[in-house]
Amino acid sequence: MSYDLAADIQKLKAEKNAVILAHFYEDGEIQDIADHVGDSFFLAKMGQKSNADVILLAGVVFMAESVKILNPTKKVLVPDLEASCSLVKGAPYEEYKAWREKHPDGIAVTYINSSAEVKAISDVIVTSSNAEQIINAIPKDRPILFGPDANLGRYLARELKRDMILWPGSCEVHMLFSARRLHELIQKHPDAVVIAHPECDENVLQYATVIGSTSRLLDEVKNNPAKKFIVATETGIFHQMKKVRPEAEIIQAPSEDETCECNNCPYMKLNSLQKIKLALQTLKPEVTLSDALRKKAQVSLDRMMDITSNQPVTWPGRFVAPEL
Ligand code: 13P
Ligand code: SF4
Repeated sequence: MSYDLAADIQKLKAEKNAVILAHFYEDGEIQDIADHVGDSFFLAKMGQKSNADVILLAGVVFMAESVKILNPTKKVLVPDLEASCSLVKGAPYEEYKAWREKHPDGIAVTYINSSAEVKAISDVIVTSSNAEQIINAIPKDRPILFGPDANLGRYLARELKRDMILWPGSCEVHMLFSARRLHELIQKHPDAVVIAHPECDENVLQYATVIGSTSRLLDEVKNNPAKKFIVATETGIFHQMKKVRPEAEIIQAPSEDETCECNNCPYMKLNSLQKIKLALQTLKPEVTLSDALRKKAQVSLDRMMDITSNQPVTWPGRFVAPEL
């Protein structure tokens, strides 16, 4: 069944001149039919430079919106428009704007896991793979507002020794890892290397020797000669980890509830091969944004791209909310 679907998808892709970009948290069978698989920064860059007519983003909607903002003439599809993210849901535009207005001299550094509207009132976008470089480029005399992920913000503030005003959002998946049970697991596997995504709570992060984006964690498994890894991130990435190190033991970090599949992102897992095939057949659902919103959101995404390609940037003065 899956084999036929995969063949149908390849045929449709050629017919429509489409490219498929997939996030590491998608099911393995989706990762395997994609042209490019990666972390959120990599997918944004691939989407920006794509020459295809149609870009299908098998991930969550904010990732597809970022591609649409960066490459607006393309038709950008998602398998399911309901594929949101708890960080997006936890940062509604009006409240985020009010928070910014309380700190008008601050530079708003916003995680890519945010809506297009929130990006439009942000100064620069970051992902967990480029945040350190970007924050280091911000003048030291400017206060930093960081949102919507407080765990990532707290981790960066500590690493970079930089005060930050944090928006109180979190990832509902990474918050479920249990520090208590992780500690017990480490006692059972003292030879394992513990690696974690910075969206985890600081009580979990304290046990990790490597903290980084999905691509950073995958690189660690690939390059560290250790034979055992305890991984505190979403389960989809195990697919690539097992491919690069088939002989290594990759152990999922535990949640408090032993019985649930807590560390599956319910938004990423809304996608399926069936929905991808349908999206390529019908060219729907399409991600669309008004020109006005897109252009305003592009400013903060462009700053991310400029800083990460070592281009000079200027920083805005006091915040005045734009009309959206
Ligand atoms: P990455 O940027 O590390 O791929 O993370 C995206 C994400 O949604 C993590 O939950
Ligand atoms: Fe959002 Fe968390 Fe899912 Fe990533 S894993 S898309 S942060 S809900």
